[in-house]
Amino acid sequence: MNREEVSQVRGVVLQKSTCEYWNKIWDFQAKPDDVLISSYPKAGTTWLQEIVDMIQNDGDIEKTRRAPTDIRMPFLERINPPYVGLDKANEMPSPRVLKTHLPVQLLPPSFWKENCKVSIIYVARNIKDNIVSFFHFQRMNKGLPDPGSWEEYFETFLEGKGLWGSWYDHVKGWWEAKDIYPILYLFYEDIKKHPRREIEKVMEFLGKNLDEKVLDKIVYYTSFNVMKNNPMSNYTLSSLMNQSVSPFMRKGVIGDWKNYFTVAQNERCNEDYREKMDDTTLSFSMEY
Ligand code: A3P
Repeated sequence: MNREEVSQVRGVVLQKSTCEYWNKIWDFQAKPDDVLISSYPKAGTTWLQEIVDMIQNDGDIEKTRRAPTDIRMPFLERINPPYVGLDKANEMPSPRVLKTHLPVQLLPPSFWKENCKVSIIYVARNIKDNIVSFFHFQRMNKGLPDPGSWEEYFETFLEGKGLWGSWYDHVKGWWEAKDIYPILYLFYEDIKKHPRREIEKVMEFLGKNLDEKVLDKIVYYTSFNVMKNNPMSNYTLSSLMNQSVSPFMRKGVIGDWKNYFTVAQNERCNEDYREKMDDTTLSFSMEY
Protein backbone atom coordinates (compact mmCIF):
# COMPACT_ATOMS: atom_id res chain seq x y z
CA MET A 1 0.00 0.00 0.00
CA ASN A 2 1.30 3.48 -0.86
CA ARG A 3 1.74 6.03 1.86
CA GLU A 4 -1.09 8.51 1.45
CA GLU A 5 -0.62 12.14 0.49
CA VAL A 6 -2.07 14.98 2.47
CA SER A 7 -4.08 18.05 1.58
CA GLN A 8 -5.92 20.69 3.59
CA VAL A 9 -9.44 21.67 4.62
CA ARG A 10 -9.68 25.22 5.94
CA GLY A 11 -5.98 25.24 6.76
CA VAL A 12 -6.01 21.90 8.59
CA VAL A 13 -3.83 19.13 7.18
CA LEU A 14 -5.83 15.96 6.56
CA GLN A 15 -5.42 12.83 4.49
CA LYS A 16 -5.99 13.60 0.82
CA SER A 17 -8.85 11.10 0.58
CA THR A 18 -10.62 12.89 3.46
CA CYS A 19 -10.23 16.25 1.72
CA GLU A 20 -11.59 14.87 -1.53
CA TYR A 21 -14.65 13.56 0.30
CA TRP A 22 -15.00 16.68 2.42
CA ASN A 23 -18.44 17.87 1.28
CA LYS A 24 -19.96 14.50 2.13
CA ILE A 25 -18.29 14.46 5.54
CA TRP A 26 -19.50 17.99 6.27
CA ASP A 27 -23.07 16.98 5.36
CA PHE A 28 -23.02 13.93 7.67
CA GLN A 29 -26.25 13.63 9.65
CA ALA A 30 -25.76 12.95 13.35
CA LYS A 31 -28.59 11.43 15.39
CA PRO A 32 -29.60 12.53 18.90
CA ASP A 33 -28.65 9.21 20.46
CA ASP A 34 -25.19 9.07 18.88
CA VAL A 35 -22.14 8.94 21.09
CA LEU A 36 -19.09 10.62 19.59
CA ILE A 37 -15.57 9.95 20.84
CA SER A 38 -13.32 12.77 19.82
CA SER A 39 -9.60 13.27 20.28
CA TYR A 40 -6.37 14.45 18.74
CA PRO A 41 -4.78 11.28 17.31
CA LYS A 42 -2.89 9.16 19.86
CA ALA A 43 -4.54 10.68 22.92
CA GLY A 44 -6.27 7.45 23.96
CA THR A 45 -9.14 7.11 21.47
CA THR A 46 -9.06 3.32 21.35
CA TRP A 47 -8.90 3.14 25.12
CA LEU A 48 -11.94 5.32 25.50
CA GLN A 49 -13.72 3.37 22.79
CA GLU A 50 -13.16 0.16 24.73
CA ILE A 51 -14.42 1.80 27.92
CA VAL A 52 -17.57 3.12 26.21
CA ASP A 53 -18.22 -0.19 24.48
CA MET A 54 -17.89 -2.13 27.73
CA ILE A 55 -20.17 0.30 29.56
CA GLN A 56 -22.80 0.06 26.85
CA ASN A 57 -22.59 -3.73 26.94
CA ASP A 58 -22.89 -3.82 30.74
CA GLY A 59 -19.36 -5.19 31.10
CA ASP A 60 -19.90 -8.15 28.75
CA ILE A 61 -16.43 -8.68 27.25
CA GLU A 62 -17.68 -11.17 24.65
CA LYS A 63 -19.95 -8.51 23.18
CA THR A 64 -17.11 -6.00 22.92
CA ARG A 65 -15.03 -8.68 21.21
CA ARG A 66 -17.58 -9.02 18.44
CA ALA A 67 -15.33 -7.26 15.88
CA PRO A 68 -12.04 -5.38 15.56
CA THR A 69 -11.93 -1.93 17.05
CA ASP A 70 -12.31 0.25 13.96
CA ILE A 71 -15.04 -1.93 12.51
CA ARG A 72 -17.07 -1.59 15.73
CA MET A 73 -16.84 2.21 15.78
CA PRO A 74 -15.78 3.95 12.59
CA PHE A 75 -13.90 7.22 12.21
CA LEU A 76 -16.13 9.71 10.45
CA GLU A 77 -13.36 11.16 8.29
CA ARG A 78 -11.81 7.81 7.38
CA ILE A 79 -12.03 7.25 3.63
CA ASN A 80 -9.14 4.99 2.72
CA PRO A 81 -9.30 1.18 3.04
CA PRO A 82 -10.56 -0.90 4.68
CA TYR A 83 -13.71 1.22 5.06
CA VAL A 84 -15.42 4.52 4.33
CA GLY A 85 -16.38 5.91 7.73
CA LEU A 86 -19.52 7.66 6.51
CA ASP A 87 -20.87 4.55 4.84
CA LYS A 88 -20.17 2.46 7.90
CA ALA A 89 -21.82 5.02 10.16
CA ASN A 90 -24.89 5.21 7.94
CA GLU A 91 -25.26 1.43 7.99
CA MET A 92 -24.97 1.15 11.76
CA PRO A 93 -28.02 0.58 13.94
CA SER A 94 -28.68 3.15 16.67
CA PRO A 95 -27.43 3.96 19.19
CA ARG A 96 -24.19 4.44 17.29
CA VAL A 97 -20.76 5.16 18.70
CA LEU A 98 -18.65 7.12 16.26
CA LYS A 99 -15.13 8.46 16.44
CA THR A 100 -13.35 11.48 15.04
CA HIS A 101 -10.02 13.27 15.19
CA LEU A 102 -11.44 16.40 13.57
CA PRO A 103 -10.74 19.74 15.23
CA VAL A 104 -13.88 21.27 16.67
CA GLN A 105 -14.40 23.76 13.85
CA LEU A 106 -14.49 20.94 11.30
CA LEU A 107 -17.04 18.76 13.08
CA PRO A 108 -20.07 18.34 10.79
CA PRO A 109 -22.64 20.95 11.93
CA SER A 110 -25.43 18.40 12.45
CA PHE A 111 -23.66 17.41 15.71
CA TRP A 112 -24.31 20.86 17.11
CA LYS A 113 -27.98 21.19 16.15
CA GLU A 114 -30.18 22.17 19.06
CA ASN A 115 -32.36 19.12 18.79
CA CYS A 116 -29.34 16.89 18.43
CA LYS A 117 -28.36 15.75 21.90
CA VAL A 118 -25.29 13.81 20.85
CA SER A 119 -23.11 12.73 23.78
CA ILE A 120 -19.56 13.81 23.00
CA ILE A 121 -16.57 12.55 24.95
CA TYR A 122 -13.23 14.22 24.27
CA VAL A 123 -9.91 12.83 25.47
CA ALA A 124 -6.73 14.90 25.55
CA ARG A 125 -3.14 13.90 26.26
CA ASN A 126 -0.15 16.01 27.23
CA ILE A 127 1.66 17.36 24.18
CA LYS A 128 4.99 15.67 24.80
CA ASP A 129 3.71 12.11 25.00
CA ASN A 130 1.27 12.88 22.22
CA ILE A 131 4.09 13.85 19.85
CA VAL A 132 6.08 10.71 20.61
CA SER A 133 3.10 8.41 20.23
CA PHE A 134 2.03 10.03 16.94
CA PHE A 135 5.58 9.81 15.56
CA HIS A 136 5.64 6.04 16.10
CA PHE A 137 2.12 5.69 14.74
CA GLN A 138 3.06 7.39 11.48
CA ARG A 139 6.07 5.11 11.21
CA MET A 140 3.96 1.98 11.47
CA ASN A 141 0.72 3.03 9.75
CA LYS A 142 1.10 2.36 6.05
CA GLY A 143 -1.90 4.54 5.23
CA LEU A 144 -0.32 7.70 6.67
CA PRO A 145 2.56 9.79 5.34
CA ASP A 146 6.04 8.80 6.47
CA PRO A 147 6.93 10.99 9.47
CA GLY A 148 10.56 11.56 8.44
CA SER A 149 13.17 11.84 11.17
CA TRP A 150 12.24 12.46 14.80
CA GLU A 151 13.80 15.95 14.59
CA GLU A 152 11.75 16.85 11.49
CA TYR A 153 8.60 15.42 12.96
CA PHE A 154 9.02 17.31 16.22
CA GLU A 155 9.20 20.66 14.39
CA THR A 156 6.34 19.90 12.02
CA PHE A 157 4.19 18.97 14.99
CA LEU A 158 4.91 22.12 16.99
CA GLU A 159 4.26 24.26 13.93
CA GLY A 160 0.83 22.67 13.59
CA LYS A 161 1.64 21.42 10.11
CA GLY A 162 1.11 17.74 10.85
CA LEU A 163 -1.97 15.61 10.23
CA TRP A 164 -5.20 16.79 11.88
CA GLY A 165 -3.59 20.19 12.41
CA SER A 166 -2.29 21.93 15.47
CA TRP A 167 -2.43 20.02 18.77
CA TYR A 168 -2.89 23.38 20.52
CA ASP A 169 -5.88 24.44 18.43
CA HIS A 170 -7.40 21.00 18.83
CA VAL A 171 -7.26 20.67 22.62
CA LYS A 172 -8.18 24.34 23.16
CA GLY A 173 -10.99 24.34 20.64
CA TRP A 174 -12.73 21.36 22.20
CA TRP A 175 -12.07 22.77 25.68
CA GLU A 176 -13.98 25.93 24.77
CA ALA A 177 -16.77 23.96 23.14
CA LYS A 178 -17.43 22.07 26.37
CA ASP A 179 -18.70 25.30 27.95
CA ILE A 180 -21.43 25.50 25.33
CA TYR A 181 -22.26 21.90 24.50
CA PRO A 182 -22.59 18.73 26.61
CA ILE A 183 -19.05 17.45 26.21
CA LEU A 184 -17.24 15.28 28.74
CA TYR A 185 -13.60 16.38 28.56
CA LEU A 186 -11.16 13.78 29.86
CA PHE A 187 -7.40 13.51 30.15
CA TYR A 188 -5.30 10.45 29.30
CA GLU A 189 -3.19 11.05 32.40
CA ASP A 190 -6.25 11.00 34.67
CA ILE A 191 -7.54 7.75 33.20
CA LYS A 192 -4.11 6.22 33.66
CA LYS A 193 -3.81 7.32 37.29
CA HIS A 194 -7.44 6.88 38.35
CA PRO A 195 -9.07 4.47 35.89
CA ARG A 196 -12.00 3.57 38.09
CA ARG A 197 -12.89 7.17 38.89
CA GLU A 198 -12.66 8.24 35.24
CA ILE A 199 -14.63 5.23 34.00
CA GLU A 200 -17.34 6.14 36.50
CA LYS A 201 -17.46 9.62 35.00
CA VAL A 202 -18.04 8.13 31.55
CA MET A 203 -20.69 5.83 32.96
CA GLU A 204 -22.58 8.71 34.57
CA PHE A 205 -22.25 10.84 31.45
CA LEU A 206 -23.81 8.05 29.41
CA GLY A 207 -26.60 7.68 31.96
CA LYS A 208 -25.59 4.16 32.96
CA ASN A 209 -25.66 2.79 36.46
CA LEU A 210 -23.53 -0.33 36.69
CA ASP A 211 -22.71 -2.13 39.90
CA GLU A 212 -19.27 -2.38 41.51
CA LYS A 213 -18.50 -5.81 40.09
CA VAL A 214 -19.20 -4.69 36.55
CA LEU A 215 -17.08 -1.62 37.12
CA ASP A 216 -14.22 -3.83 38.31
CA LYS A 217 -14.52 -5.88 35.14
CA ILE A 218 -14.42 -2.79 32.97
CA VAL A 219 -11.32 -1.49 34.77
CA TYR A 220 -9.63 -4.85 34.22
CA TYR A 221 -10.58 -5.42 30.58
CA THR A 222 -9.63 -1.87 29.56
CA SER A 223 -6.22 -1.97 31.24
CA PHE A 224 -3.22 -1.69 28.92
CA ASN A 225 -1.97 -5.28 29.09
CA VAL A 226 -5.37 -6.83 28.59
CA MET A 227 -6.12 -4.58 25.61
CA LYS A 228 -2.65 -5.22 24.19
CA ASN A 229 -3.37 -8.96 24.16
CA ASN A 230 -6.86 -8.57 22.75
CA PRO A 231 -6.82 -8.88 18.93
CA MET A 232 -10.13 -7.00 18.79
CA SER A 233 -8.56 -3.92 20.34
CA ASN A 234 -4.84 -4.07 19.48
CA TYR A 235 -5.21 -3.53 15.70
CA THR A 236 -3.20 -6.68 14.88
CA LEU A 237 -6.00 -7.59 12.45
CA SER A 238 -5.51 -4.34 10.53
CA SER A 239 -3.56 -4.68 7.30
CA LEU A 240 -2.74 -0.96 7.48
CA MET A 241 -0.46 -1.34 10.43
CA ASN A 242 3.00 -2.84 10.46
CA GLN A 243 3.26 -3.80 14.09
CA SER A 244 6.82 -5.04 13.68
CA VAL A 245 7.85 -1.41 13.11
CA SER A 246 6.04 -0.29 16.28
CA PRO A 247 3.10 -1.97 18.02
CA PHE A 248 -0.20 -0.08 18.10
CA MET A 249 -0.43 -0.75 21.84
CA ARG A 250 3.09 0.60 22.19
CA LYS A 251 3.85 1.54 25.82
CA GLY A 252 0.72 3.11 27.27
CA VAL A 253 2.55 5.18 29.85
CA ILE A 254 2.88 8.78 30.99
CA GLY A 255 6.29 10.37 30.45
CA ASP A 256 7.77 8.31 27.60
CA TRP A 257 8.72 11.65 26.00
CA LYS A 258 11.76 11.68 28.27
CA ASN A 259 13.21 8.87 26.19
CA TYR A 260 12.99 10.95 23.02
CA PHE A 261 13.25 14.68 23.75
CA THR A 262 16.71 16.23 23.80
CA VAL A 263 17.28 18.93 26.42
CA ALA A 264 16.97 21.54 23.65
CA GLN A 265 13.71 20.03 22.36
CA ASN A 266 12.31 20.02 25.87
CA GLU A 267 13.11 23.69 26.32
CA ARG A 268 11.71 24.52 22.89
CA CYS A 269 8.50 22.62 23.66
CA ASN A 270 8.11 24.26 27.08
CA GLU A 271 8.54 27.70 25.55
CA ASP A 272 6.14 26.97 22.70
CA TYR A 273 3.61 25.56 25.15
CA ARG A 274 3.80 28.62 27.43
CA GLU A 275 3.27 30.94 24.49
CA LYS A 276 0.42 29.05 22.81
CA MET A 277 -1.43 28.07 25.99
CA ASP A 278 -1.33 31.58 27.39
CA ASP A 279 -4.90 32.34 26.30
CA THR A 280 -6.69 29.34 27.85
CA THR A 281 -7.71 27.96 31.24
CA LEU A 282 -6.82 24.49 29.99
CA SER A 283 -3.63 23.11 31.46
CA PHE A 284 -1.69 19.88 31.31
CA SER A 285 0.81 18.48 33.74
CA MET A 286 4.13 18.62 31.87
CA GLU A 287 6.74 17.15 34.20
CA TYR A 288 6.74 13.61 35.52
P1 A3P B 1 1.59 5.00 23.20
O1 A3P B 1 1.99 5.09 21.77
O2 A3P B 1 2.20 6.10 24.01
O3 A3P B 1 1.81 3.67 23.81
P2 A3P B 1 -5.15 6.26 20.07
O4 A3P B 1 -6.05 5.14 20.43
O5 A3P B 1 -5.76 7.61 20.21
O6 A3P B 1 -4.52 6.02 18.73
O7 A3P B 1 -3.98 6.28 21.15
C1 A3P B 1 -3.03 5.26 21.22
C2 A3P B 1 -2.18 5.48 22.45
O8 A3P B 1 -2.98 5.13 23.61
C3 A3P B 1 -0.96 4.58 22.48
O9 A3P B 1 0.02 5.28 23.28
C4 A3P B 1 -1.51 3.36 23.21
O10 A3P B 1 -0.55 2.52 23.76
C5 A3P B 1 -2.34 4.07 24.29
N1 A3P B 1 -3.33 3.19 24.91
C6 A3P B 1 -4.28 2.44 24.30
N2 A3P B 1 -4.97 1.73 25.20
C7 A3P B 1 -4.44 2.03 26.41
C8 A3P B 1 -4.71 1.58 27.75
N3 A3P B 1 -5.64 0.68 28.01
N4 A3P B 1 -3.97 2.11 28.76
C9 A3P B 1 -3.01 3.02 28.51
N5 A3P B 1 -2.70 3.48 27.26
C10 A3P B 1 -3.40 2.98 26.23
